[in-house]
Amino acid sequence: MEQDIRQAYATTEPAGGLRVHLITFGCQMNEYDTHLVRSELAGLGASFVETTEEANFVLVNTCAVRGKPVEKLRSLLGELRKQKHRQPLLVGVMGCVAQLPEGQDMARKFEVDILLGPGALTQIGRAIEADHKFWDLSFRDDLNTFTPPPPQGVLSSFVSIIRGCNHHCTYCIVPRTRGPEISRHPDDILKEVQAQKDAGVLEVTLLGQNVNSYGKGRSGYPSFAELLKLVGQIGVNRIKFITSHPVNFTDDIVRAIAETPQVARYVHLPVQSGSDRVLKRMAREYTRDWYLNRIQAIRASISEVVISTDIIVGFPGETEEDFQETLSLYEQVGYDHSYMFIYSPRPGTPSYLHFEDLPREIKVERLQRLIETQKRWSYERNRAWVGRTVEVLVHGRAKETGYAEGHDRGNRPILLPVNEAPKPGLYTAIVKQATPHLLLAERHTTLEPIGSQA
Ligand code: 5AD
Ligand code: SF4
Repeated sequence: MEQDIRQAYATTEPAGGLRVHLITFGCQMNEYDTHLVRSELAGLGASFVETTEEANFVLVNTCAVRGKPVEKLRSLLGELRKQKHRQPLLVGVMGCVAQLPEGQDMARKFEVDILLGPGALTQIGRAIEADHKFWDLSFRDDLNTFTPPPPQGVLSSFVSIIRGCNHHCTYCIVPRTRGPEISRHPDDILKEVQAQKDAGVLEVTLLGQNVNSYGKGRSGYPSFAELLKLVGQIGVNRIKFITSHPVNFTDDIVRAIAETPQVARYVHLPVQSGSDRVLKRMAREYTRDWYLNRIQAIRASISEVVISTDIIVGFPGETEEDFQETLSLYEQVGYDHSYMFIYSPRPGTPSYLHFEDLPREIKVERLQRLIETQKRWSYERNRAWVGRTVEVLVHGRAKETGYAEGHDRGNRPILLPVNEAPKPGLYTAIVKQATPHLLLAERHTTLEPIGSQA
């Protein structure tokens, strides 16, 4: 069956007959990687379709960080196997799950044709040309020098600056799936940012599992702080970056943000827990005091900075006392926003191997308390913006009828009446109302939209 499809497009244009449906689970790095693979496939003549039914090649970019996306993948692959038995269909799995034994077991069980680890994405062309099952789980140098063309017709986009992670947080599967840190060459990064700007992008997000480590151990590479300044000189309207690690968030980075006006007034600084005891068991390499000192340094230098975090609730051995420490840290920092996760045991991680998972009811109940705390703070922070003027990057229509959606320089979500912001672009607006989740604004009456798309 699989050979039939491959013969169908194995003409002068190798992927000419391929109708590809791409599915992406997980983080922004995965979105970027999907774009990278899409651009490779497009270059080979493939076309893209919106549903699995229309496709003869379904390629899934996967996420292994928690159990849920892995389970979703499992049921998706079950469905695809059924489809495969009805009509010719190539199935590919790429990204973090592909790198793990559980992904490889799934590939065997569900008759997956192509398996590409997160370090082998540039092999997609070879994979579709092969006439046999194609697995590549290597970490290839050419991924690091690969510069995908800019995405078309979007105002916000991503640029990868560093792949992998040299930390070893005990709950985290990423060091196993994505390997050690490798920084991209600064020339490639700057070239890609410039190309995106030329294509109309107004906001670039620099990506990596730990962007703060950028350039470490590479002679002649700038540090992350220096890179921020270099990217700032290109003149993209906004620069964001994720994700940071508190240990590597040094003062020079704080200064670079403060001194580079293009850099968004937004810092995402994952804390994971407010308890020193838990931080130690997580091997986060810092204490609560260290983290709070970083927050203090950020707030002291970057005016009106928005701060968000990642938190894991119910890490093995977390007591009610430990959880109280997390709640009190939330009161001390007053995050604008946070991504709150229930601990998910990941096979192969140290915490999976050595610690016992807490009962689900305890984890869920703690999460609910933390959500309430965050909601209160988000409302508090958002409320302070009512009556103020903000610069909104509008992406398009919101799911709320009659509204366009966007976000400001602090990454706060903003809704504007769609008739006041009919096209994507940059607008200035006055905030009229706040909820815990967003700001409702009206377009500023005296100022015109900024930017070529508006
Ligand atoms: N369980 C729950 N959350 C996790 N994260 C990473 N690993 C796990 C896990 N095993 C969260 C962390 C990280 C974010 C990307 O995902 O908070 O910062
Ligand atoms: Fe995972 Fe920790 Fe690395 Fe983040 S810093 S990717 S949580 S090991």
